[in-house]
Amino acid sequence: MRGIVDRLRDCHELLPWQYKALLTMRDPHDIEYLMGQAREVTQEHFGTGIYLRGLIELSNVCRNDCLYCGIRRSNSQVSRYTLNREQILSCCKIGYKIGFRTFVIQGGEWGEERSQWIADIIRDIRQGWPDCAITLSLGEHPKETYALWHEAGADRYLLRHETHNQRLYSLWHPRQMTVTHRLQCLEWLKESGYQVGAGIMVGAPFQSLNNMVEDIQYLVSFKPHMIGIGPFIPQHDTPFRRFPSGSVDMTTRLYAILRLALPQALIPSTTALATVAPDGRLRGILAGANVVMPNLSPKDTRGLYSLYDNKAAMGAESAQGISRLADELSTIGYQINWSRGDSPAI
Ligand code: 5AD
Repeated sequence: MRGIVDRLRDCHELLPWQYKALLTMRDPHDIEYLMGQAREVTQEHFGTGIYLRGLIELSNVCRNDCLYCGIRRSNSQVSRYTLNREQILSCCKIGYKIGFRTFVIQGGEWGEERSQWIADIIRDIRQGWPDCAITLSLGEHPKETYALWHEAGADRYLLRHETHNQRLYSLWHPRQMTVTHRLQCLEWLKESGYQVGAGIMVGAPFQSLNNMVEDIQYLVSFKPHMIGIGPFIPQHDTPFRRFPSGSVDMTTRLYAILRLALPQALIPSTTALATVAPDGRLRGILAGANVVMPNLSPKDTRGLYSLYDNKAAMGAESAQGISRLADELSTIGYQINWSRGDSPAI
């Protein structure tokens, strides 16, 4: 097993059976060896600093109907909200004061008629906080829209591919959505000049080990600047409500494998991972993650952005919460890195 780990660290690529061996190995010493190597590589490139991204949940209005997601269009139990311009800028103002230098504007997918409004907001943020990175996570759009937003000042874009497997993708999504178009969007984003994030959900219904191997292979070939991976967590008003959550073990193993495959990648220890286990966030960092994304959304809308049940809230949006996070990180020898944290591969 260690030979395979060493090979991945040296060559940044493995054969499918070797990825599978890493995903299924059970000896705790082997697993710890993988994690240790991933930590070493992370520290070679980033030291023990963890970048912060302030997440602003723009809206839970969504035109899509993904079967796993709590804000899917057909979920009539959700009361829908959209932040206004003042609320968004106020989140940035509060976040900047705390020390955030990246804002992530995430929300459900809207039609193109509102793309200009979003571009205006991006310009406002760019103007108000010129030293900050602006990351968008707003779903699939035409290349022209991605270009418009990039010209308005957005630097990065997160669009998880969710799964690379066509059959599985169609089990998780409504008919109109295809993995081909998803991957096309990721290409457009790269071509438009964004630092791009792709990624998957782990342990989602019907997903097999082979599917995860396909995802690793896709990520290795696409080489995203950022990799977002979290366990699937059921949401009680979705068709997938009865399926179990993905595991911390499989999620962290993917972090470690992808760290060795893509040493420069920015990998968040995700909120979903922190939701499935109290020590999830730290275990993610110990597996090679180097980003945390605290929530900067206004308190009164936060509960409404419920992609899945029992979403962890760390309260890191306040200065006090951040110092708790810093304390937590210090227990494993890490600290907050307050810089923008652009991809070194740019
Ligand atoms: N469990 C875990 N992650 C989810 N996402 C959406 N629904 C769920 C869920 N039930 C993730 C998707 C999406 C990101 C914004 O949130 O991967 O890309």
